[in-house]
Amino acid sequence: MSEPNKKHLALVTGASRGIGASIARKLASEGFHVLVNFASSQEKAQKVVDSIITAGGSAELCGFNVASSQAVDEAIERVTKAYGVPVSVLVNNAGITIDGLLARLKDEDLDKTLDIDLKGAIYCTRAVSRGMMRARAGSIIQISSVIGEMGNAGQSAYSAAKAGLIGFTKSVAKELGSRGVRANVLTPGFIATEMTQDLTEAQKEVMLRNIPLGFVAEPEDVANVVAFLASSASRYITGQVIGVNGGLYI
Ligand SMILES: NC(=O)c1ccc[n+]([C@@H]2O[C@H](COP(=O)([O-])OP(=O)(O)OC[C@H]3O[C@@H](n4cnc5c(N)ncnc54)[C@H](OP(=O)(O)O)[C@@H]3O)[C@@H](O)[C@H]2O)c1
Repeated sequence: MSEPNKKHLALVTGASRGIGASIARKLASEGFHVLVNFASSQEKAQKVVDSIITAGGSAELCGFNVASSQAVDEAIERVTKAYGVPVSVLVNNAGITIDGLLARLKDEDLDKTLDIDLKGAIYCTRAVSRGMMRARAGSIIQISSVIGEMGNAGQSAYSAAKAGLIGFTKSVAKELGSRGVRANVLTPGFIATEMTQDLTEAQKEVMLRNIPLGFVAEPEDVANVVAFLASSASRYITGQVIGVNGGLYI
């Protein structure tokens, strides 16, 4: 762990690539010391940390599997002890999707999706909430999906997990609001990352036809909204679902 040098800690789960990496870079550019989480892609996560430091920001690796409540609790305890301050901003971005028709959905695929996409976010939120409540400040941002709002054939487990995040976050916002802690959900649409690169041209074309703004977003389009929710400029916003979807779901 590098020398503590910033008072405002931001933890971004699944920050080794894609949307999470972009969020980590953006929050670092806003002055946060960013804890760059990953599960297995340590080399990629290290590159994200290096790029932040090269750009004059502050970050370090914080590897753990969000699906393990024990690993989550240990990691949060370790960083908050090391810095002597609680995590100020938590971005629950880590996620996977295992697509397939409902009739063929395997128990293990359902469990894995719920464990990472839903329970992982709950474990992380629970772990940071204790310090945030004591500090009477904090912003929790969930990266859900437009699929959690509108559903999608072949993505029933993923949409269940992502919809679950919405109900969970509304409860957290109600429970922690009086302690100065805010919680909001982003529901991205079609973002160009490794998660979406395997879509066929035909699938991409169908998607684009349904997006009023007519283009695929970049991870930065999500990161910019996260930065707003992490800042005091959004101090009166909590419990909200904010679509970053080019109008795909209105
Ligand atoms: N791309 C889109 O169009 C889109 C749209 C809507 C919502 N989203 C959501 O946005 C988030 C990021 O998506 P993305 O497209 O950037 O995905 P991605 O490129 O596949 O990256 C996923 C990230 O999650 C991490 N991760 C996976 N399992 C983990 C675990 N158990 N513990 C900790 N980290 C874990 C991965 O790290 P490791 O490699 O180390 O496991 C990786 O950093 C996801 O929650 C996704 O559902 C994406």
